[in-house]
Amino acid sequence: MENTAEKKKILFSGIQPTGRITLGNYLGAVRNWRLLEDTYDCLYSVVDLHAITVRQDPAALRKQCLSTLALLLASGLSPEKSILFFQSHVAEHAELAWVLNCYTMFGELSRMTQFKDKSAKHADNINAGLFAYPALMAADILLYKTEMVPVGQDQKQHLELARNIAERFNGIYGDTFVVPEPYIPKVGAKIASLAEPTKKMSKSDPNENSFVALLDKPDDIMRKFKRAVTDSEAVVRYAEGKDGINNLMTIYGSITGKSFEEIEREFDGRGYGDFKAAVGEVVVNEFAPIREKHDQLLNDKAYLESVYKQGAEKASYMARKTLAKVYKKLGYVAK
Ligand code: TRP
Repeated sequence: MENTAEKKKILFSGIQPTGRITLGNYLGAVRNWRLLEDTYDCLYSVVDLHAITVRQDPAALRKQCLSTLALLLASGLSPEKSILFFQSHVAEHAELAWVLNCYTMFGELSRMTQFKDKSAKHADNINAGLFAYPALMAADILLYKTEMVPVGQDQKQHLELARNIAERFNGIYGDTFVVPEPYIPKVGAKIASLAEPTKKMSKSDPNENSFVALLDKPDDIMRKFKRAVTDSEAVVRYAEGKDGINNLMTIYGSITGKSFEEIEREFDGRGYGDFKAAVGEVVVNEFAPIREKHDQLLNDKAYLESVYKQGAEKASYMARKTLAKVYKKLGYVAK
């Protein structure tokens, strides 16, 4: 029988095992990943190889890796639909990264803004891995013939470099890699810090009140929202200069599905106190089942293991083929 089913495009994304997925990561990335599962053939990797570019405590890292996988599952990603795996379980990532290192220029890596930022932040540990990080990220993507990569603003430069590396390699050796495109989600909220609403919400912010994480306790979430920085107008409306309120409206809107006009009407004549409590409440309600499911999954090590083992097996099968092709092009003697 002829197979008439249209082949889905391949989509890849990675998440660092920081053990702390923030509201920003959730609304900007993880929640959208779930919506992409039916349209694309998705691979989602917990990028533990990337994690060691900054110093990690081994026991904490192991816990965070499992916790991150559990959070992806708890957020609704399906191991039947998508390939979920740990980057370190598929050796081809490191192998292709080495090859790509040799096709990535010192000057290109020096221009990466994340490298500049991170080397300023970790001045005592500016290691070669931190520098070469984008070549590993390119390997992640290029191993799977990835066509689409959903990334936030902060990773655009790395994706652009991955495209350049792919094109450079293809230019020398003939068609080898698929050149990936950035995926810009239709709905994808950019969430700002609760304490300094002109800045992006970040889990590495030293001010704990500036971000909300998926695993925060309800009381903490409520407190952080009640303390959120706003303005003195005391009118819930979306407008230039009202960064704090705009951010809270974006959060409220992306969770409830309500438009800004609807939110303005809902809170017409009511103070910021009411509004902040309402935002806190919808976030608590959104996160509660995820946290519960996460805790349950972490206690079910056998299930988690079955997910990541199966994921690595499927990913390895695809990765092996690409790496074999690359090695052949390079002129290596076949095994
Ligand atoms: N560098 C990304 C981040 O810090 C994570 C990542 C690693 C990634 N490999 C990737 C994202 C490949 C997309 C595609 O967020």
